[in-house]
Amino acid sequence: MPEAPIVLITGGTGFLAGWIIVLLFRQGYRVRTTVRTLSRAAEIKSSIRAADGITETQISSLQVVQADLVKDEGWAEAVKDAIYVLHVASPFPAALPKHEEDLIIPARDGTLRVLRAARDSGTVTRVVMTSSFAAVGYGHPKERSQSGIPYTEKDWTYLGPGNTVPPYNKSKTLAERAAWDFMKTLESQGNTKLELAVINPTAILGPALGKDDASSLRTVTELLNGAIPGCPRLQFGIIDVRDCADMHLRAMTDPKAKGERFLCVGEGSLWIEDIAKILRKNLGPKARKVPTMVLPNIVMRGVALFVPVARLVLGDLGVAKVISNAKAREVLGWQWQYSSEQAVMASADSLIKFGMVNL
Ligand SMILES: NC(=O)c1ccc[n+]([C@@H]2O[C@H](COP(=O)([O-])OP(=O)(O)OC[C@H]3O[C@@H](n4cnc5c(N)ncnc54)[C@H](OP(=O)(O)O)[C@@H]3O)[C@@H](O)[C@H]2O)c1
Repeated sequence: MPEAPIVLITGGTGFLAGWIIVLLFRQGYRVRTTVRTLSRAAEIKSSIRAADGITETQISSLQVVQADLVKDEGWAEAVKDAIYVLHVASPFPAALPKHEEDLIIPARDGTLRVLRAARDSGTVTRVVMTSSFAAVGYGHPKERSQSGIPYTEKDWTYLGPGNTVPPYNKSKTLAERAAWDFMKTLESQGNTKLELAVINPTAILGPALGKDDASSLRTVTELLNGAIPGCPRLQFGIIDVRDCADMHLRAMTDPKAKGERFLCVGEGSLWIEDIAKILRKNLGPKARKVPTMVLPNIVMRGVALFVPVARLVLGDLGVAKVISNAKAREVLGWQWQYSSEQAVMASADSLIKFGMVNL
């Protein structure tokens, strides 16, 4: 029997990457991942052990290679003999960076490093890049977002003159643009062996596999910890991490995914107030710190005068964006399995289990 293909997934320490590794093992692939420091290999193995359906033999077979998105070293070794690359790693910080370049350089230049290594490997046939709704639905006039016309894969975040797009959203937009430009150049050189598909997730919730995943679940963490006095009028598309991982694997092997981007949203969007209600309904006394008040937009504007990170969301206050998942359903045969409520509660239950909230 031929050996299973090797899949490289970048950033194995991440929340989404952990679940993708679990799904890859469940489907019988051989898996290699990159980390910035090899000392974190044990942590990844212990995280994926928390999921069902993978064996100790698989866990110990996980190959871990050191590679940083801002350095050339390690990438050739990382892609060696791999057939697929899932490029998931990218800075996803909770705080505002000092300089936007601190996010843009690893996101964009790191993506190009991964694509060049894949091209030069001689074995990789497809890269699936994790982009974001951040590269789709920002920088547009408020009227566009409020029109009720769904955002689709044809939309791109506007980075032209006068834009006020936050640094993270810029980093994802520039990284994805750079990836498609790279592919165009390859094609113009007659190189058609390497293919690219892109996944654009909205806010990812769902079960953490370890303590380190708490930063990706910061909205739920902050609500449970009572870290915010009220719920800002902000709405996000929601996707469960397990459904998001599933879409990555479909885009990896489905011939129809070649050259396509796919919005990754599940049942729909939730206001922060809705998330708070779900937590209170299901957790009872454990949710006693979850705020009940909705923060009026004028209060948020006042807060933004003193708290720089609050300035990032001012343009989205009260804005309900409609986001379509029709393309992923029609082209990839993908369907979300976890409702928004299930995704919120899976996040909360795992944060409680790992002691990441002060109830
Ligand atoms: N979470 C969401 O709501 C969401 C929504 C849409 C898209 N996304 C995208 O999904 C992907 C995964 O996000 P996540 O939620 O899983 O975030 P995460 O847990 O913070 O994972 C980010 C990963 O990127 C790695 N990374 C950051 N800078 C790096 C660098 N310079 N070199 C190498 N690796 C680096 C991190 O490694 P360290 O552990 O060493 O820091 C970590 O493994 C990202 O591309 C993110 O933009 C996330």
